[in-house]
Amino acid sequence: MFALTTIWPLVIAIASALTTSNPFSQSNWPLPHNITGTDTPGQWGGVHLHDPSIVQGPDGAYYSFSTHGLVSISRAVSLDGYWEHIGSVLTRQSIIDLPGRNDTWAPDVSKIGNTYYCYYSISTFGSQNSAIGLATSQTLLPGSWTDHGAVLESGKDKRYPLNATNGIDANIFVDEKSGEVFLNYGSFWSDIWQFKLLKDLKGLDWSWPPKQLSFEPKGTNPEEGASISENKGWYYLWVSHGVCCGFNTTLPVKGEEYEILVGRSKTHYGPFVDREGKDMKNGGGSVVYGSHEYVYGPGGQGVLKNYNGRDVLYFHYVPTYVSYIDEDKRLGWDYIEYVDGWPVLVY
Ligand SMILES: *[C@@H]1O[C@H](CO)[C@@H](O)[C@H](O)[C@H]1NC(C)=O
Ligand SMILES: *[C@@H]1O[C@H](CO)[C@@H](O)[C@H](O)[C@H]1NC(C)=O
Ligand SMILES: *[C@@H]1O[C@H](CO)[C@@H](O)[C@H](O)[C@H]1NC(C)=O
Ligand SMILES: *[C@@H]1O[C@H](CO)[C@@H](O)[C@H](O)[C@H]1NC(C)=O
Repeated sequence: MFALTTIWPLVIAIASALTTSNPFSQSNWPLPHNITGTDTPGQWGGVHLHDPSIVQGPDGAYYSFSTHGLVSISRAVSLDGYWEHIGSVLTRQSIIDLPGRNDTWAPDVSKIGNTYYCYYSISTFGSQNSAIGLATSQTLLPGSWTDHGAVLESGKDKRYPLNATNGIDANIFVDEKSGEVFLNYGSFWSDIWQFKLLKDLKGLDWSWPPKQLSFEPKGTNPEEGASISENKGWYYLWVSHGVCCGFNTTLPVKGEEYEILVGRSKTHYGPFVDREGKDMKNGGGSVVYGSHEYVYGPGGQGVLKNYNGRDVLYFHYVPTYVSYIDEDKRLGWDYIEYVDGWPVLVY
């Protein structure tokens, strides 16, 4: 009895040391960097982003793009801000003739050649009649964008897998080896898929069979917002898992709100497996970031390469010290480190 009570504090100390030294432990999740910028209640852009996409502009500054506001654009010289809301990608509703055409979602902006490509989503909440549209620009600035309309459309009457997926949440991945360009997309239904794009990047190349990358068999199949990044020969698939929005009206059961999962593969089309070796097509995915402290429901993530020579994961989250209202969500970011080829976030 005496021995046990003296040894017990030591056992606890060793156990907690093991937990805190485990780089994958949730207790090591960093807080997001606090950013400054335009902060107008009810308006998207500045500090308030949803499903952010960030790219470096021809002037060396960073440009962010958000859901809503006809693809709201903000600009800052550093990721910490000051993020100034400068306008939008579209100047009027999308030329895609679908419900929701005046309210674009989940943009993805990347530079290919000398052109910036902005893929945006048109849908309405809970509908599978959706489309991914494209606008292009040479400068990223408001007023410089040309709307090219739909690249992909989903719905019951469309060709498989477009009839089994929801055509929103685009992410572009360029295979550096071949120069070929791939489109990752999907939200609920059969979750995350990858298409090859035609050379003009305005349509789908069906000669390359589309691949399913991830599927959550449980519940409402809540995965979306996928993006792929590459580091040292590994391809990483990041997805947002859970309920994204409306937290001020209904708070999901704990653990069912947005969180960020990752898996890795030796190819950009999978199979992506998590740290336990579970295929993401069968519910796999290691949680790299989720609710903790005042951070709630982080997701809509993307990777920015070579920021101060390092990789960055940026995302939106609910700062609970402000409110749970969607419009109060904000941009956050942290650096990525790779431990045995697995990403972990560090401040
Ligand atoms: C961010 O700002 C909040 C509110 O002022 C503060 O509580 C928190 O500690 C800050 N986080 C960091 C990482 O500085
Ligand atoms: C889009 O149009 C619909 C129908 O006209 C309207 O109810 C909605 O408020 C508009 N949304 C935005 C963001 O302008
Ligand atoms: C999609 O189309 C394929 C091929 O026509 C069909 O087998 C499948 O059942 C359809 N899926 C859905 C969800 O409608
Ligand atoms: C939740 O926030 C939305 C704005 O995102 C607002 O329209 C709605 O009234 C709020 N609901 C409640 C129950 O406060």
